[in-house]
Amino acid sequence: MPDNPRDLTEYIMFHIVDTSIFDRPVLDDLCELTTLVRTIAKSPEGARCLQQLAPTKRAMLYFTQPSTRTFLSMNNACHILGIRTSEIRNAAVSSEVKGETFEDSLRTFSSYVDLIIMRTNEAGYAARGAALMDSIPRPVPIINAGSGADQHPTQALLDIYTLERSFENSGGISGKTIGMMGDLKRGRTVRSLARLMRHYEGVKLVFIAPDAFAMEPDIKAFLAEQGIPFEETGRLHEALPELDAIYVTRVQSEHDVDDESSAVNLAPFTIGTDELGLLKQSAVVMHPLPRGPEVAIEVDQDPRAMYWRQERNGMWMRVALIAKIFGLDQEIRALATRID
Ligand code: CP
Repeated sequence: MPDNPRDLTEYIMFHIVDTSIFDRPVLDDLCELTTLVRTIAKSPEGARCLQQLAPTKRAMLYFTQPSTRTFLSMNNACHILGIRTSEIRNAAVSSEVKGETFEDSLRTFSSYVDLIIMRTNEAGYAARGAALMDSIPRPVPIINAGSGADQHPTQALLDIYTLERSFENSGGISGKTIGMMGDLKRGRTVRSLARLMRHYEGVKLVFIAPDAFAMEPDIKAFLAEQGIPFEETGRLHEALPELDAIYVTRVQSEHDVDDESSAVNLAPFTIGTDELGLLKQSAVVMHPLPRGPEVAIEVDQDPRAMYWRQERNGMWMRVALIAKIFGLDQEIRALATRID
């Protein structure tokens, strides 16, 4: 980081492995860039100008764990900037089936592209990929698009953007009480988002989960260390009136070892019309999606339901992030002043 943390013109991003690289000026900068990009893209001329920013760049999407929105939003974010993409979505169709190691596979991708965006079933692979890149002559940036039950840093960025926009007339995220509900134990989105809360003053977190899916001790220790107050409860109805946002997550049953999710009663951890009645009119309901039964379809009609906007924000935030990695942010700012 430069000495003056407000001067981000010299600040270069490379690997995005976890949320620890983001501080408040960087988060504010990315949020501002996201709004600029989405505004520019509204006009056909603006969209064409964005596509001229990186037509010589190529990106690889290496997703060996299922994904709909992260894959599509990353892919489309690249296309918005004119970046061409290639993909592997199943290790069974790569030379990994012939015994090629993860490291050799990644090094091979880096021979062909300028950016690797990757999602894996297991934690730690994005970090391994970044370490490998840092040891070879032609390193390319690695973006972690979800690593096991551990981290989902770009989801946390779009969540921050959505929260900031939701509270833009009430002081932003600072001072807000944010509930996180569901499978907090294995939900990488809440783990990444909780960590970013250290950059916002006066935030309080309320973890609402059955005992079996309680937030892991490492995150609670981190929050305690950072002086971020949090509560844990299994009583959703008692918690709801206090919340400015509730971030709902699904059961991460893909991480079950022995079908243990089926033994947990999640019925008390759902949002429907009764629960909306207990929530402030100014509050928002968020969800990283895909959803299960934890948010009723009827909630979609309520203006406090923010998850579809959150999903779309993800594409614009990822455009901003990729633009930042390729050092295109100043060109985007210049475009914004030129295009109404
Ligand atoms: N929120 C999210 O990561 O969704 P996908 O699994 O569909 O990418």
